[in-house]
Amino acid sequence: MKKTKIAVFVSGGGTNLQALINAQAAGKLHSGEIVLVLASNPNAYALERAKKAGIPGVVCSRKQLGDQETFEAAISAQLKEHEIELIVLAGFMSILSEAFTKQWPERIINIHPSLIPSFCGKGYFGLKVHEQALAYGVKVTGATVHFVNEIPDGGKIIAQKAVEVMEGDTPEVLQKRVMERAEWILLPQAVQQVSEKIAKEKEL
Ligand code: GAR
Repeated sequence: MKKTKIAVFVSGGGTNLQALINAQAAGKLHSGEIVLVLASNPNAYALERAKKAGIPGVVCSRKQLGDQETFEAAISAQLKEHEIELIVLAGFMSILSEAFTKQWPERIINIHPSLIPSFCGKGYFGLKVHEQALAYGVKVTGATVHFVNEIPDGGKIIAQKAVEVMEGDTPEVLQKRVMERAEWILLPQAVQQVSEKIAKEKEL
């Protein structure tokens, strides 16, 4: 079966990208292949991870490109050039417009560090999500992998995993636990699942 060509979009440390790279190396992402890493800023450490893994990395910065339309046109050109079939947002902090997401129905996956519909939507990203979970006092949080549509964090849920909140947790400690126990496990599994579905559809 022909593998699904995947682009991973990143903005920061790229630990979720690393989990995908590791899964691919271990044969756990056997229906897909990461062929492009696209970063929203030139300083993303994720680009180093891509380089080490021999995956082409490119930068498309909204700030550098000026407006949303130019930004998304640059992204689309990269996706076309690399014949991408599936986009994975792994800590991608730039907003994608409805005009863009509409072109990729059930072909964009996002990982969010809470149990949607809690602590999600506009303004909820990275450490902020864990700060809010702790401020609310929830005893259980987790991670969600979902398809991306025009509503921030509002697309169809693919997978979720719960993680305990412990007495004395700081946002940093909680973030690390959610990553280790949920995100890095859940994301590769979901990407494999969707890649397999796309690969099978191509066979028909
Ligand atoms: C991850 O925790 C991811 O779930 C979160 O940003 C972090 C990126 O870390 N994404 C969001 O908050 C999206 N709303 P990473 O660069 O090490 O993968």
